[in-house]
Amino acid sequence: MTQKFDFADALDLSEDTALSWRSLGELAAGYIEVQNTYRAAIREINTKLEILDDEFRMRHQRNPIHYMQSRLKTPRSIMEKLRRKGLPFTPESVRENLTDVAGIRVICHYIDDIYMVAKLLTAQDDITLVRETDYIKNPKPNGYRSLHLVVQVPVFFAERTERVPVEIQIRTVAMDFWASLEHELRYKAAEDVPDYLVKELTECAEIINRTDMKMQWIYKALGEIKDVGKKN
Ligand code: GTP
Ligand code: MG
Repeated sequence: MTQKFDFADALDLSEDTALSWRSLGELAAGYIEVQNTYRAAIREINTKLEILDDEFRMRHQRNPIHYMQSRLKTPRSIMEKLRRKGLPFTPESVRENLTDVAGIRVICHYIDDIYMVAKLLTAQDDITLVRETDYIKNPKPNGYRSLHLVVQVPVFFAERTERVPVEIQIRTVAMDFWASLEHELRYKAAEDVPDYLVKELTECAEIINRTDMKMQWIYKALGEIKDVGKKN
């Protein structure tokens, strides 16, 4: 299979700039390899999560995971990030410095599901937890909530095994609703979002969080009623 890839075009670079790095062909080939590696890592993690979700369903008659999304960072945003951090523009530099080329978002039903999924995944023998940022226990000042993990998963190729980082964002349906709209609003606003609207958005995040906690409480309370019913 041959893949054509115009590096300068994809990255929005002038020919001169692109050529001053390395030969375009070499870079393009390097990028295709990087892309294949990260795509494989996404598949590995997706399968692990699906297996955990299926097993939970078999035991508890419900799925903890509502749905999953994955994405590969585009060449353009890889380059922008390298440029921002003053790092070299090479496939090696991507491998060494970026942990969010492969990204998976896991949308759960309840807050407890988030921690359960994270615990079961990171407990697996071949998974290494590189970083955990808990924006649920410590929300961002704007109200953003999610559990962020960076894990490494081994990917087995014909002649080598590579441990590949994957960034996983785990959040509830409600947190995802807020984050999607907040992202869109921020993106659409040509200038900075005015303070009073930022405050309103943060308030929405707090309301959503209260709802999340109440739903979790209702779920548990119903479970207890059922358990009592079974005993009687
Ligand atoms: P970068 O990866 O360079 O952005 O910096 P970082 O690693 O410090 O970022 P962090 O782990 O905080 O966030 C990474 C990703 O989380 C972003 O690309 C978004 O997808 C998501 N995220 C973080 N903060 C917010 C936020 O305030 N609003 C929304 N909608 N998403 C956010
Ligand atoms: Mg990041």
